[in-house]
Amino acid sequence: MEAFFIQPARRLEGVIPVRGAKNSILKAMAASLLFRTPFLIDNVPHIVDYQQMENLLVSAGVLVERVGERQVRLTPPRHPESTLDPEVAQSFRSSVVLIGPLLARTGKAVFPYPGGCVIGKRPIDLFLEGLARMGALVREENGIFTLSAKRLVGADIFFRKVSVTATETLMMAAVLARGKTVLSNAAREPEIPALAEFLNLCGARISGAGTSTITIRGGAKLDGARRVFRIIPDRVEAGSFAILAALRGGRLRVANCIPEHLAGLLAALREAGVFIECGKDWVEITAPKQLFPVNVQTREYPGFVTDFQSPFMVLLTQAVGMSTVFETIYEGRLEYTRDLNRMGAEIILCDPHRAIVVGPTPLFGRVVESPDLRAGLAFILAALVAKGPSTVQHKPRKIRCILLVFFDRVSLEVLQSRDESIFEMGSNT
Ligand code: EPZ
Repeated sequence: MEAFFIQPARRLEGVIPVRGAKNSILKAMAASLLFRTPFLIDNVPHIVDYQQMENLLVSAGVLVERVGERQVRLTPPRHPESTLDPEVAQSFRSSVVLIGPLLARTGKAVFPYPGGCVIGKRPIDLFLEGLARMGALVREENGIFTLSAKRLVGADIFFRKVSVTATETLMMAAVLARGKTVLSNAAREPEIPALAEFLNLCGARISGAGTSTITIRGGAKLDGARRVFRIIPDRVEAGSFAILAALRGGRLRVANCIPEHLAGLLAALREAGVFIECGKDWVEITAPKQLFPVNVQTREYPGFVTDFQSPFMVLLTQAVGMSTVFETIYEGRLEYTRDLNRMGAEIILCDPHRAIVVGPTPLFGRVVESPDLRAGLAFILAALVAKGPSTVQHKPRKIRCILLVFFDRVSLEVLQSRDESIFEMGSNT
């Protein structure tokens, strides 16, 4: 188990630049299996999930070459290996998006049940049903799925639930399928139109990405040559920094972001009394003297997205009055509040989806363990506003690297703002 040892921060000032989005780079890399020619990806974030996806692609035969600090070139093989390395695939959720491109390109995909943050069941029924409608034969034996299809055919697919990765996986599969596919009740997260736009540049015919109905005319011959996929800024990272600024800022600018991707969060922050200014690619946050309570419901994008729920909960513990949080997407994404209460918060967990927060309550440094990526970030925020030192333990996977990125920026700014806060990392015995 690794850990971060955190001393409270006083005022944070300065500029924090945002890097490429975790939930975009991983799908861009998966898309390489649709191609027969190489393409470049720019604005690559250095996070463990990227490394895991690279390992999976390399095992499928893709040549992955680092080109400079933030660029990578992906060269797909003539005949990709259709069996995913089960150990790596089981370690993160995004491995599931490979099954669409792999099946469409090779006629087969063999993979385990994907892993991912423990925030709920994380089923894959929508993927399997969608690919079956496109002509895939689905078999499962001892937790290993085998999908096979001579040639996928376009189909009309309605998602019973809005699923980001299911939308992306089927959209990519449909690009090579024969005929037209219409995805209805599709997810609208910004990473989806970003992926569609790049694929269209390379010869795909996708329309409606970013809306709830996406139409794909299949049979494309994609050419990635001389194309660069620039990864969009990580909106969850940007929003987490904005929440930090609202808690501990003097005046903090979150740079290299896309404010409209944060609209749901910014509306909630304004309701809490936070001063916000937006520019073309920046958001400037000034912490108010007093925070007001907010009733929050998580929704699919462009609503208040579930990934902001846990960091925003920390802000609500400091608001004057009673707030409510309704986590509508995942049934396991409020468990971390028990540890926030150990730090001094007053959060009543009414059921797996609903919580009442009474504030403001002083928070005190504690030893806590991160159950998932975004709750881990919430504990970091809580530790920064707590009295006394905290230890945030985490598994040395993705959480470490995202948090490292987080620390790298915050500690840099903290030091620049002449604050003595010290972020130390180390391994617990
Ligand atoms: C994506 O997860 C993101 N991950 C998540 O970010 C994000 O929280 C989530 O979308 C919601 O915005 C990636 O893009 C890698 P879903 P995803 O499939 O796609 C149900 C982070 O911290 N569902 O949209 O796995 C499911 O139970 C992560 O960066 C089915 O029922 O989420 C859930 O209730 C955490 N059957 C809802 O859909 C399926 O086959 C949303 O899940 C698939 C999903």
